[in-house]
Amino acid sequence: MLKKFLPALLGAVILLTGIFSATASAAENKILIAYFSWSGKTEKVAQIIQRDTGGTLFKIQPANPYPTEYKACSDRASNEVATGARPAISNRVADMDSYDVVFVGFPIWWYNAPMIIDTFLESYDFSGKTVVPFCTSGGSLIGVSMDKIRLHCPDSNVVDGLTANRSSEVAPWVKKLGYAK
Ligand SMILES: Cc1cc2nc3c(=O)[nH]c(=O)nc-3n(C[C@H](O)[C@H](O)[C@H](O)COP(=O)(O)O)c2cc1C
Repeated sequence: MLKKFLPALLGAVILLTGIFSATASAAENKILIAYFSWSGKTEKVAQIIQRDTGGTLFKIQPANPYPTEYKACSDRASNEVATGARPAISNRVADMDSYDVVFVGFPIWWYNAPMIIDTFLESYDFSGKTVVPFCTSGGSLIGVSMDKIRLHCPDSNVVDGLTANRSSEVAPWVKKLGYAK
């Protein structure tokens, strides 16, 4: 009797194990999606990631908002790079310790992540967490920013980031990382 049902039983166990391990990643990880966005493009990507992961959105707010006019914003950004500035952030993630995975999103400014991302990364302890960078840009890729993010997060699992200029690439990327709910 048992002999007859053993293969079916074994099959069911294997199937259930497969189902649970496939969903474990999104369910077991508490996910934060922190982002800075000046003109809204990175914010849209952050919202797609939030929708697909069920994570918590956190918009990084500069204490001194950037000018809405491009030239003035660009001048300030370039000055911040030249001086190694750490522009202050007016809000704070209340329970950073509780997150396992932190997406960090930003526009590329002067070929790199804006200096306010340095401020953000220096404001918390990311050790033991998975850090998932993403950016939008006018064409520059995320590579240069990855170097500085890795320097700020030496004890984190920093995943290769996505230059998310095509929004259709976001959902498949999140799924491939195993964070889709
Ligand atoms: C100050 C400033 C500097 C920029 N520097 C670059 C750059 O070096 N390379 C690039 O491809 N795009 C650059 N851009 C374009 C932005 O990266 C791009 O428009 C981005 O998608 C905007 O994202 P946001 O809408 O979330 O702010 C720059 C934009 C600004 C305002």
